[in-house]
Amino acid sequence: MKIKKVLVTGGAGYIGSHTCVELLQEGYDVVCADNFVNSSPIAMDRVAQITGKTIPVHELDFCDYPAVKKFFTNETVDAVIHFAGHKAVGESVENPLKYYENNLLSLINLCKAMGKDIRKNLVFSSSATVYGFPDQLPIEEDSPVDSFNPYGRTKLFIEQILQDIWATDNAWNISILRYFNPVAAHPSGLIGEDPAGIPNNLMPYIAQVAIGRLERLRIFGADYDTPDGTGVRDFIHVVDLAKGHVAAMRKLETSPGLMVHNLGTGRGYSVLELVNTFAEVNNVQVPYEIVGRRPGDVAANYASTDKAKKELGWEAQCGIRQMVLDTWNWQSKNPNGYSFD
Ligand code: WQD
Repeated sequence: MKIKKVLVTGGAGYIGSHTCVELLQEGYDVVCADNFVNSSPIAMDRVAQITGKTIPVHELDFCDYPAVKKFFTNETVDAVIHFAGHKAVGESVENPLKYYENNLLSLINLCKAMGKDIRKNLVFSSSATVYGFPDQLPIEEDSPVDSFNPYGRTKLFIEQILQDIWATDNAWNISILRYFNPVAAHPSGLIGEDPAGIPNNLMPYIAQVAIGRLERLRIFGADYDTPDGTGVRDFIHVVDLAKGHVAAMRKLETSPGLMVHNLGTGRGYSVLELVNTFAEVNNVQVPYEIVGRRPGDVAANYASTDKAKKELGWEAQCGIRQMVLDTWNWQSKNPNGYSFD
């Protein structure tokens, strides 16, 4: 069926806001729902600035089923792209129950509410973390899955819940997208990654060191079995990632069913390569020190991208230089992210 109106849950977040931009620019009608626990309403003003289109924004906690049900009573959408959820690996280890309750209950409430409608088109934000410690590279979609932290397990459990729902009711059309390492920002510098507190992830940490908010980067381990000893990851530009969601939703219109795709570039870069490229391209200093390994880190992972290219007609376009340029453009224009304090 033709999809016209799309609900983006977590639409004020990092990947959600970038996906709202791409959907609007592709001519979709977009509605955003977010509880703003880990995002800012300012991001939606910026989306309007970029696209010239203002979208309805609902403050909504997907753990609140009566509120979710009310939303779907008042609003009719043709598809949902589901980003809403907690996503910090370290925090999930410290507080697993918070992650299981929030991430699983949000999804279950969403599916219960959607289940009452004929339009059951869902794109789910999963993660390469579901692959755990890969036994071969690049990682294919049919590689073994087994996650080693509560955050990753919520993604794994949700994937299984969606498989079970689809098995009992083929009226569902579901796309599961496994992201590798989302980085960078829209080239306008108006929207970008704005982590609460000290960043867990590498790229925002580098950017905050470069802008002077943090003193130096700690590189977790330089003794891995990789070309320069530091971790290797498949960094993917968030705009490419957003376009991947539009491609997946388009596929649901023509090919009903349940599908799983990696969203990566198929190319791994090491931590040191990223740091040095960031400094060189942006002509900034990124002081760092090598420290011990971070528990739970894999040495290397990067995606097989054949399936997404063949079935979705999508492949990442941006290289590492564009990623570091756009990251710095966002950070230097928004030294404190969306807050102005
Ligand atoms: C990348 C590399 C670190 C910080 C996680 C989640 C994954 C996804 C992306 C949500 C590793 C090194 C990092 C630092 C460092 N998130 N590093 N110093 O762990 O690959 O993936 O974020 O979906 O699900 O698991 O990303 O950016 O934390 O680490 O040396 O201060 O950078 O050791 O090699 P990761 P990351």
